[in-house]
Amino acid sequence: MLYLCPLCHAHLQNEDKSMVCNAGHRFDLAREGYINLLPVHHKRSKDPGDNVEMIQARREFLDSGHYEPLRSLITSQLAQWLPENAPTMLDIGCGEGYYTSAFGELVKQRDGECYGLDVSKAAIRMAAKRYMSVNFCVASSQRLPFDDNSLDAVVRIYAPCNSKELQRVVKPGGVVITAVPGPEHLYELKALIYPQVRLHPEHSELLAGFSLAGSLPLQTTLQLTGKEAGALLQMTPFAWHASEETKAALFSKASFTCKADFLIQVWQRDSLV
Ligand SMILES: C[S@@+](CC[C@H](N)C(=O)[O-])C[C@H]1O[C@@H](n2cnc3c(N)ncnc32)[C@H](O)[C@@H]1O
Ligand SMILES: [Zn+2]
Repeated sequence: MLYLCPLCHAHLQNEDKSMVCNAGHRFDLAREGYINLLPVHHKRSKDPGDNVEMIQARREFLDSGHYEPLRSLITSQLAQWLPENAPTMLDIGCGEGYYTSAFGELVKQRDGECYGLDVSKAAIRMAAKRYMSVNFCVASSQRLPFDDNSLDAVVRIYAPCNSKELQRVVKPGGVVITAVPGPEHLYELKALIYPQVRLHPEHSELLAGFSLAGSLPLQTTLQLTGKEAGALLQMTPFAWHASEETKAALFSKASFTCKADFLIQVWQRDSLV
């Protein structure tokens, strides 16, 4: 495993059920197999990241398979960009691991290592319990516990990141694959909550140190049950703005149709000159 000590940045080595650096900083592997590399003084709150309710809603919704086209598209991009021999990759803000598990299976076929990182301990615990082909850690995307130039690819699906950290850890020629909402993402769901729906802005942000190598829009129409639509709402930040009546009405619907609109972008790390 490639981990660095979050306290002194030395390499961590396996020792029994822990990982230890030369300076003696020790991090225990949890029963579920993940490692917590988020020191208390790096936390912004007691339980940073998504809470248990959001993660459970995310798992319930993702398990229904409606976002499988997104997972397949990103996995096929990874299959194209990752080296054939022993690739290393990281899913940043991996949540409960639905996408990461598919990346892990791909990387395993190539004798590589797949990492999943999230600041939410509840998310990582749930991910590690279910998915064995991934090394999961609790850490922040603001301080990645990985060496310089150590990763062939980083995936970032709706998760915060720090572009300086991405520049540091991705190998020259390696890629960052991002998924962000397209303009009409979840339009009908937002229409239940906001009197006037604002479209998601078109993404034209650049990623410093990387060049855009591909841009793939993905649009689908989701045919949901009311329960699935309720879980979808619950896993988004729109849930904070929805009244209890709106949520209850959505849950009790027999069906709900909604657009999903994603933009997948591939950013290639510039070569060092
Ligand atoms: C919208 S969710 C996306 C989760 C997953 N990628 C998916 O699409 O199912 C964003 C995730 O980022 C995590 N997160 C938030 N701030 C973070 C940070 N600073 N470092 C790492 N993860 C973070 C949250 O805990 C949450 O799991
Ligand atoms: Zn250390």
